[in-house]
Amino acid sequence: MNKQIIKIPDGYSFQNYDVYNFEPALAVYNWEIVAEKVVIDMSHCFHANYQSLALLTLYIWYLNSQGIQIEFSFSHKNEGASKMWHLMGATSWYQVLTKSYQNFKGHDCKPLIAIKNQQDCNTALLKIESYTKGFHVEYEKILRYVISELLYNTLEHGFFCQKIGNEEKRISSIIQLKWSQNKQELRLIIADLGIGIKKHLEATYQPFENHYSAIRYAIQPQVSGTFGINEPYKTKDNAGVGLYIASNILQRLNADMHIISGDGWVHISPRQITNRTMNTTWRGTFVLVNLSLEKDFSLSLHALMSEFREAAIQQISRRKQADEQEKFYLSIENYFGRYAEDKEAALKYRDKKLIPAVNKGQPLLIDFDNVISAPHSFLSGLLATPIKLLGLKAYKKIKIVNAAPEIRETVDYILDENT
Ligand SMILES: Nc1ncnc2c1ncn2[C@@H]1O[C@H](COP(=O)(O)OP(=O)(O)OP(=O)(O)O)[C@@H](O)[C@H]1O
Ligand SMILES: [Mg+2]
Repeated sequence: MNKQIIKIPDGYSFQNYDVYNFEPALAVYNWEIVAEKVVIDMSHCFHANYQSLALLTLYIWYLNSQGIQIEFSFSHKNEGASKMWHLMGATSWYQVLTKSYQNFKGHDCKPLIAIKNQQDCNTALLKIESYTKGFHVEYEKILRYVISELLYNTLEHGFFCQKIGNEEKRISSIIQLKWSQNKQELRLIIADLGIGIKKHLEATYQPFENHYSAIRYAIQPQVSGTFGINEPYKTKDNAGVGLYIASNILQRLNADMHIISGDGWVHISPRQITNRTMNTTWRGTFVLVNLSLEKDFSLSLHALMSEFREAAIQQISRRKQADEQEKFYLSIENYFGRYAEDKEAALKYRDKKLIPAVNKGQPLLIDFDNVISAPHSFLSGLLATPIKLLGLKAYKKIKIVNAAPEIRETVDYILDENT
């Protein structure tokens, strides 16, 4: 029998102190593996985190759905990953995969839940509610809102069907929660093996250059892969705002959000949004959220929602206007975050988007709505070369809107400097 061993390395995690890196953990998953049996060896993994281990259940489901037998090798003393695997209730992975009514039975503070239907979403939301008992009621509402958007996305868009036995079955998504009461910290991952954001969006939009561009597009308002799908009996109408609002709210809550789909990785932190292409791939999509809960909380869901709705309407209308006039539209907040300080990202964007637009003769419409800070180095990185290319025409062809006075002044200075 062809048997392959997959070793789960010690320190199996996405995070090393404050630095996130998904690549080492994802490198363990070989999606092309050819074997009759795979042994998942956790015996030498003494340190891990729950979110990275939770992905392993999906990977095992994937292998099993390809007809591969799975065996485990745990540590003798039941420590590290082996212990965590049991605490999450992941040992019942096979029953959960094959029986539609079965779910994991994990520890209350670190549960793993298979998301097969609306009922499972409610189970997950109730768990989160139990952690935030005694918190401001608005905080509970906001958190519930954000997590349900992410759960609905995986349920609606993260389909992966496979023949198991003689039956075509949907392989469910998962959510894993880790609540640390003493730190008042909530970590969670929502993951699926579906077609991924890029391919899903491409049912409606032109092909994207890479996965992270598709993810960045998905977090803009009124963007949905469902807009191009005409199903007469579609039960839910998507507005394409779930990720836009969820990511904006999480920024306000000072959370870290990572969206991974294919080899694309977008990190939405309280101050900025960054992206990259990884050397490894996740066969589907997952969202990781790390959040310190705040007991004293003064925001209201209603106020936040109306603020973001208003901002979305404005952004959409400017995007449409720019489209109609064949202008190139850039929302700084959406692309770089409210603290637009990442010069490296500005340079990349300039080369990939702005210079080609200038070369095509398109006027640039640059929107600074909601941007709190954009220092000279960032703005100069973004704009100096396009300005030089345009010469004096830059004054006409680059339109800046909604900039705070100091940002406006810096842009004017850069215009004068380079013309
Ligand atoms: N888990 C996922 N798998 C595949 N595609 C996804 C996933 N999550 C999001 N997407 C893609 O991103 C798009 C935007 O998601 P978003 O939540 O903003 O809008 P929506 O779900 O289409 O509409 P709404 O949330 O307003 O009901 C989706 O339409 C889909 O194309
Ligand atoms: Mg949605």
